[in-house]
Amino acid sequence: MVIQVSLLVSCFFAIHLSVSEGVSCYGTFDNSTGKCLDFIGDDVTEEDCCLNIKYGFKRSANDPCEACYPAEWSEWSPWQGCSVTCLEGVQQRRRECYGQGSCEKDQTMLETRSCTQDCCPQNGGWSNWLPWSACSVTCSKGIMQRRRECTNPAPQCGGTCHGNNQETTVCDINQVCPTHGEWGNWGSWSACSASCTKKGSSDVPKYLRYRQCNNPPPSSNPPGIFCPGLGQEEKACSGLPPCPVDGGWGAWQKNDECSVTCGIGVETERRECNNPAPQHNGRECVGAKIRTTVCNTGLHCPIDGRWSEWSEWTECVRPLRDKIQCTKVAGQQKRTHLCERKAYGGLACKGLPTEIRNCYNTKGCIYQGTWSDWSDWSLCIPPCGKSEKTRQRLCKPIYPDYPNNTGIQRTSPTFFWGTPNALCQALDGQRRKVEEKADCLNTLPCNADMDSVSYNSG
Ligand SMILES: *[C@@H]1O[C@H](CO)[C@@H](O)[C@H](O)[C@H]1NC(C)=O
Ligand SMILES: *[C@@H]1O[C@H](CO)[C@@H](O)[C@H](O)[C@H]1NC(C)=O
Repeated sequence: MVIQVSLLVSCFFAIHLSVSEGVSCYGTFDNSTGKCLDFIGDDVTEEDCCLNIKYGFKRSANDPCEACYPAEWSEWSPWQGCSVTCLEGVQQRRRECYGQGSCEKDQTMLETRSCTQDCCPQNGGWSNWLPWSACSVTCSKGIMQRRRECTNPAPQCGGTCHGNNQETTVCDINQVCPTHGEWGNWGSWSACSASCTKKGSSDVPKYLRYRQCNNPPPSSNPPGIFCPGLGQEEKACSGLPPCPVDGGWGAWQKNDECSVTCGIGVETERRECNNPAPQHNGRECVGAKIRTTVCNTGLHCPIDGRWSEWSEWTECVRPLRDKIQCTKVAGQQKRTHLCERKAYGGLACKGLPTEIRNCYNTKGCIYQGTWSDWSDWSLCIPPCGKSEKTRQRLCKPIYPDYPNNTGIQRTSPTFFWGTPNALCQALDGQRRKVEEKADCLNTLPCNADMDSVSYNSG
């Protein structure tokens, strides 16, 4: 016990010492109010605080602020009010001695001078009351006010009007106040509006919930205000799988060039199922991936030349010799054909337009003849119904044994040309031609379909 008491005593002593030595130091002494400003710190020695003579300090919280600078009078305060409101009185002003040490002894801190007021206060009189204000409410009971002014007459030399310049009274509109609506509680969230999310769609699946303006509902007479705000709220659904995206065809793209370089051909176009490509188990595109379309080069294709039929051989003649008919002298003849149809850069005909050959002229000559074998049967005439066919044996001339490869073109064969008269022994009484006719058997009837049926000439 004894030890504890001595501890307490020494502790108290230590605190007392520090309070007596330390001051609260401030950065500014305000010489117009005598107050310390700009607190710096406690427990500073007076000497340390006043190392700057602009500073001030307090010895304890309730003591006045002391300036660090050497004692000096403050400025005079303004003159105070006159001691009377009417006729002659006095007024005073003060100054304080701030700082360390004391100010000069024979100077004073208080000055007094006399003052006079020109006139004495006279009270004014009230004007009439102004009209009542509107009632403060539009239903049930409220208040209204009216005012009057101190102008009749106005007070003089600081006088006033006695009484209130304002009056208040209760007013009753005699009407029930409307009830404004208040929201009820939110209902529970609905099911999500969709089961999957469409990529890139602004239509995001959501939950909805509603509330009603029924707690209370707005009164109808007099009409109350409907609840402010929305009766519906939405929230995006989360964690939905993406929706299937069905495939769509892209544009047709040319795949191959036109199959021809002239005239009309085909070209193929291809499209891909990528607009969009099917996703998330969406359907594949339906339809063809490749199509062919007609392409037209607009160019006429070349037409190659083609030889016309040969003309008849010309008369077999020997230039510079008059007559070679029925002689052993070889002559020459020619025939021609024309390259026809060539157009649009087509190829020319191959070969020469003229052919020349060696010949013996047998026109009208008389030779021994010999009967030919039967010719093949002719066609059935007419081609349908009852019809006939023919075949012949002809009296053919036996050409004389003239040398071959003679004439102007030595290396080419020499041909007999012309129509000689052939002398044969009479056959069935004929000298030139024996003809046999026969019915065509099992012919086909003539009808409209004949053209499409092939028939046998026998
Ligand atoms: C009071 O303080 C102001 C500046 O803080 C100074 O200009 C003035 O001279 C001081 N007045 C006196 C009487 O010390
Ligand atoms: C010469 O030979 C050709 C066939 O090589 C023949 O057609 C022609 O009749 C012959 N001419 C003569 C004069 O024998």
